[in-house]
Amino acid sequence: MSPLHPIIAALPTIIAHRGASGTAPENTLAAIERAAMLGARAIELDVMLSADGYPVIIHDRGLARTTNAMGQVARRSLAEIRSLDAGSWFAPEFAGERVPRLEEALGLIAELGMALNLEIKPSRGKARETAHIAARVTGQNWPQGLPLLVSSSSEAGLRAFGEAQPGVPLGLISGAVPRDWRRRLAGLGCISLHAARDKISAAAARRIRDAGFGLLAHTVNQPAEAERLFEMGIDAIFTDHPERFTAPPARG
Ligand code: G3P
Ligand code: MG
Repeated sequence: MSPLHPIIAALPTIIAHRGASGTAPENTLAAIERAAMLGARAIELDVMLSADGYPVIIHDRGLARTTNAMGQVARRSLAEIRSLDAGSWFAPEFAGERVPRLEEALGLIAELGMALNLEIKPSRGKARETAHIAARVTGQNWPQGLPLLVSSSSEAGLRAFGEAQPGVPLGLISGAVPRDWRRRLAGLGCISLHAARDKISAAAARRIRDAGFGLLAHTVNQPAEAERLFEMGIDAIFTDHPERFTAPPARG
C-alpha cells in the first residue's frame, strides 16, 4: 500500500461545496463565511476568467442562474461582473452579494484558517489561460501552511497549473471512476480522484487508496450516504450542507 500525499492526510473530511451552498448563495463570500460558521474547515470553489482575464469565483459559464444578468462570464469584463447581484437569486437577505474575485476569496479563507480545494472551471478554449492565471494568483496570495488542493475535470487545465506551480497538489474530477484512473492520475501528476458519490464501488475505492491516491466524493448531502462512503475508505466528501456533518469521521 502506497502512502497518501500529506495534503490528503491534512484535508478535513468535510468540504463545503461552493461554500455552504445549501444555505447561502454558492461561490460567494457569504457562503464561505456561512461554511465556517457551520463548522466546516474546508471549502471548494470554482474559478473562471472574465473577458479581460481576471479570475472570478463562479460555477456556470452562463450568468443567468446565479446572478441578475444574462450572457456568458467569458464575454463580460471584471467591472461588469462585479456590478452584478449574486445573492438575490438565492434569497432576498443576500441581495448585494457579489461574484468574488479569486484574491478576495483566498484572503477570506486564509483569514478563517480553512483548507481550500480550488476547481479550475475554464470557459471554452480557456483552460491553459485560466490555470496559469489561477496559479499566479494563488502563488501570490495563498499562505504557506494551509492546505491547498487544485482540481479540474479539464486535463489541459491541470497540466497548465502543474507547469506553472509544480508544488501544488492536483486532483482530477470525474463522474464515474475512469477505467484508466491509474494511468490518467499518474500522467497528469494528480494525487487524488474526485468522483461522483454514486459511481464509486468499494473495490475501486480500495484499489485507488491502495495505490496511494486520495479519493473524494461529490456531492454528498445525506449523512447515511457519507457514512457508507467513509466506510469504503473515502478521504473526504463535498457537501452543500456541512451543518449535517457536525461529527465528521476520523480518518481511517
Ligand atoms: O469538485 C467537486 C465538484 O465541485 C465538481 O462538480 O460541477 O459542482 O463543480 P461541480
Ligand atoms: Mg466545483
